[in-house]
Amino acid sequence: MIRGNHIGTTFGSSEFSDPRDLRPSNFLELSSIPDKLKQLIGYAVLAPSAHNTQPWLFRVVDKTIDIIADRSRALPVVDAEDKGLLISCGTCAGILTQALEATGFVFKRTFLPDPSFPDLIARFRITAEKEPKENWINDLNSIRLRRSARAGFITQPLPLAVAEKLINQRDESGVRLAFWQDAQSESAVLSSVVHADRELSSDKHYRRENASWINPIRARTHDGIPTDSTQIAPTEEIWSPDLSFASSGDRTTLLGAIFTEGDRPLDWIKAGSLLADSLIQASKQGLSAAITTHLIAFPGMKNQFRAVSSPKEHIQVLIRVGFAKRCPLTPRRPIHDVMLQPGYAG
Ligand SMILES: Cc1cc2nc3c(=O)[nH]c(=O)nc-3n(C[C@H](O)[C@H](O)[C@H](O)COP(=O)(O)O)c2cc1C
Repeated sequence: MIRGNHIGTTFGSSEFSDPRDLRPSNFLELSSIPDKLKQLIGYAVLAPSAHNTQPWLFRVVDKTIDIIADRSRALPVVDAEDKGLLISCGTCAGILTQALEATGFVFKRTFLPDPSFPDLIARFRITAEKEPKENWINDLNSIRLRRSARAGFITQPLPLAVAEKLINQRDESGVRLAFWQDAQSESAVLSSVVHADRELSSDKHYRRENASWINPIRARTHDGIPTDSTQIAPTEEIWSPDLSFASSGDRTTLLGAIFTEGDRPLDWIKAGSLLADSLIQASKQGLSAAITTHLIAFPGMKNQFRAVSSPKEHIQVLIRVGFAKRCPLTPRRPIHDVMLQPGYAG
């Protein structure tokens, strides 16, 4: 198992340290491919992760980027199997994919490329470099400015065109994003999420794990959720049923879920990658999402998903998308903290 704290760095911390300081224009200052790849890793680090644990490490060798799971950043109480951890790593791989595509890289991406090294989540082999895409600055800014709807949603109706754009999102090889279409079954799911959180919160181990990642000190560690600088609305507010949808049919939020055919590490990584696509698509429309994985695993929840899934499918992620109340960005670890030595083999 790889732990994050005994690793070296491939480049000095002075180059660019805080991923939050990155701007698309910085990319134009670079000429070598390794430098460009390292900068795009800065965007990958801006991916969401459960409790902002950022459970990933990177290795750049020539024209290859590897994303490696850092299981020392696991959440053993709510995520004993590391499912959320691998979904988070998949989200990171999805964001890196988008950053590479935006900036004109042609590449081959493989998930879990080495059966003898299961922590190696994704390998990106660059095969060519073209001009950046026409909208590359917007694309990078959508990654940079995306944030979770941590402070809750505002009750602004979702324009139909915006909702349809999200609802009609693509599926990816056995991974599917589905949105609830009727208010009644949507309300039932939302009420169950709130109930699951209440029940879990009565467990001191659950509360302790939450508290260890959500506290004021996190501003210093550059991970987790620093409560002094980041507004957090109570779970029941973020996941409460949409009253306007129930009464008038006008939506202020959309509730969606990512389903997979299997329930193994590769499925979790792919679910994370599709989550990244959906979140960036939402970010481009000015929307934010609340995300949960552990609350849907609560006993009895499975029945709630029948309205949008087949009995054979596995739900991996629940998202709620809407216009969010403004809240500050969460911190990220410096780039040099997440880089492995090129020769590191696990
Ligand atoms: C797999 C996964 C699970 C998450 N679960 C929750 C959750 O249960 N509750 C919550 O408030 N946020 C959850 N989040 C959102 C994270 O807390 C958030 O991504 C992280 O704090 C970083 O903040 P940002 O998304 O604003 O960059 C989850 C995110 C991911 C990727």
